[in-house]
Amino acid sequence: MALSDAPLVRALVGDRPAQTPVWFMRQAGRSLPEYRELRVGTRMLDACLTPDLAAEITLQPVRRHGVDAAVFFSDIVIPLRLAGVDVVIEPGRGPVFANPVRTADDVARLTAIDPADLDGTAIAAAVRIVTDELGDTPLIGFAGAPFTLAAYLVEGGPSKEHLRARAMMHADPDSWNRLAGWLAQVSRRFLEIQRDAGASVVQLFDSWAGSLSPADYRAFVAPHSHAALQGIGIPTIHFGVGTGPFLADMRLDGVADGVGVDWRQPLDEAAAILGPDVTVQGNIDPALLGAPWPVLEAHVLDVLDRGRAARGHILNLGHGVPPETDPDQLTRIVELVHSR
Ligand code: CP3
Repeated sequence: MALSDAPLVRALVGDRPAQTPVWFMRQAGRSLPEYRELRVGTRMLDACLTPDLAAEITLQPVRRHGVDAAVFFSDIVIPLRLAGVDVVIEPGRGPVFANPVRTADDVARLTAIDPADLDGTAIAAAVRIVTDELGDTPLIGFAGAPFTLAAYLVEGGPSKEHLRARAMMHADPDSWNRLAGWLAQVSRRFLEIQRDAGASVVQLFDSWAGSLSPADYRAFVAPHSHAALQGIGIPTIHFGVGTGPFLADMRLDGVADGVGVDWRQPLDEAAAILGPDVTVQGNIDPALLGAPWPVLEAHVLDVLDRGRAARGHILNLGHGVPPETDPDQLTRIVELVHSR
């Protein structure tokens, strides 16, 4: 079998392979004891930049669960670290920046860095180890969408409503557009490095887009996400949480081959909004991973059923695997989906 025949890739071009492809956002990470063991003593972003370690962590969930794709173990802030930005990931909290980017001067200083100068050696080395071992199983490369990255960068760390980033759009639209345009190029470069080293599909994560109004999404965000993905040359997935009010915009005018749907919106309704030219991905409620198997099983079957309304379906969660998830629940989901 060639990679182009892999169920994940076929689903993204609108085919209906015999088995619905399945993978899980955040499948590589804290729900796995073998991950926690490997990570002892290494900081998150250092682990991402150690090729052997990043490759091994990427492969762990593929071996354990038999999922249809690997997702590269890295983080959305890695390309910023590679651009020289002072960022760490605080366990239990998330990305924290030493110098938040809030004023026009801050934006000008940051965006003077040329995204083309970013050193992709460690990323490319890890991707090559992974794709050599995976053979016919595709690797999904990924990057953060400009808004989600800006939500951290402008605030300086995690926030609930991303007020400062959303304020900048209106208070100083020139600086906002310069910043978001630069972030799009940085994420774009990160995607290209992964693609050139062997990734078969890319996903753009706009996890916090749900805090935006549809009007702001269209005016200040969609054009930049479009620039990050357009013409990348391999199948693309665009994912956000809480994007129901502007789901059709998540297609990015046809640049997204697949759109990720969170758990709030049934897939048949999402498919009706998205239309016949896009594949849907999702949307098991992560909360139900903690429910007894018969409850979770019924939910997964319902998701599979509703997914038939779209031209293609990739089974996934509506957001990432919660760290406290029993990994056996994930393995059972894969077995169930592959048995249908
Ligand atoms: O999906 C995968 O398995 C691949 C790896 C991956 C990670 N981060 C590893 C990680 C991916 C695709 C991401 C993307 C990412 N990073 C997003 C978008 C996806 C989403 O969940 O919405 C976001 C918002 C980030 C920023 C970030 N990095 C957060 C919020 C956190 C969690 C902080 C915490 O401890 O609660 C991280 C750290 C992180 N990224 C971990 C992993 C496995 C946990 C690190 C650890 O083991 O302590």
